[in-house]
Amino acid sequence: MRNRTITAVVAGATTATLLLAACGPGFADGEGRPLRIALNQSEAHPSYIALDHLGEALAETTEGYDTDIYPNETLGAQAEALQLVSDGSVDMAVVSGPQLENLNPDFVVFNLPRVFDDVEHQMRVIHDPEITGDLFSSLEERNNITVLGGFTQGARSVYTDEPIETPADLAGKQIRVQESDLQLAMARALGGIGTPLAYGELYTGLQSGVVDAAENNEVSYFTQRHFEVAPYWSYTNHLVGLDYIIINSDLLASMTPADREAFDAAFTAAHEEHTQLWAEATQEAIEGATAGGATFSEVDDAAFAEPLEAMADTFITTDSQRALYDAARAAAQP
Ligand code: GCU
Repeated sequence: MRNRTITAVVAGATTATLLLAACGPGFADGEGRPLRIALNQSEAHPSYIALDHLGEALAETTEGYDTDIYPNETLGAQAEALQLVSDGSVDMAVVSGPQLENLNPDFVVFNLPRVFDDVEHQMRVIHDPEITGDLFSSLEERNNITVLGGFTQGARSVYTDEPIETPADLAGKQIRVQESDLQLAMARALGGIGTPLAYGELYTGLQSGVVDAAENNEVSYFTQRHFEVAPYWSYTNHLVGLDYIIINSDLLASMTPADREAFDAAFTAAHEEHTQLWAEATQEAIEGATAGGATFSEVDDAAFAEPLEAMADTFITTDSQRALYDAARAAAQP
């Protein structure tokens, strides 16, 4: 379904009930089966565009599937979206890596600073079934969630109201982070103090001074207009972030073999398109934010390297985490 705009924002469970009622039985009414996807980004974001194109491909190659994307946290923040996919009120969602850490600590590995050297390395690891096959099905039994794959978040850096060169420049600053222990430790490694906050609350958080700083990629910095309230971007490049595309496992299992094959092919094309769009969107974001008054500057890389790299030793505590970490590092370019 194209160009759908939701204007009313209703709390999670209520929205989900309304959606179910509005969508009807799907296949039975001959109108196809739009997959409802919860997203916290705007329509201009590469994730929206790639998922929209996924819908077009599904409409052509399956017996009636399509995508129906609810952007801008319309269905709630990622923590709620995760729950809605688990109980089947929503079919799919895009959730950031830290959201999955609490469901299975093995996901911690791919959220660590410096585990991936760049986007190409990350995508090679994430879409290698030998490495991630078990991880991606590990939530099915308990949570009824299957991980289909990942969309890159690119390299993340810090932004605030002044240029940052070393961790000492962030001393005493409240840095907004995503909701996980690793993220809080990362804020400390960067030199500041972590404050967990949902993505959609960040603009006003920065504006009102609830937080002093944040860290993200250029695309979010620009599309969420954070540059207006935190105009100094400093290239800490502390982490190549990852979004997971999750789907309700019962729904996936209910597809016919032919539809499932077409779905997998369309999903592969979608994440490949996303990676391509990412490079272009990053460039446009830098230009757009600069035109809007943002300043981008380099940091003292060596000063950040040691505390960030030490995090792997603290957070990798099990054999399965170690195996994933070693496999990821082995796939880096020599
Ligand atoms: C990125 C990522 C989102 C995530 C956000 C955040 O924009 O793509 O999935 O929610 O960072 O920092 O919360």
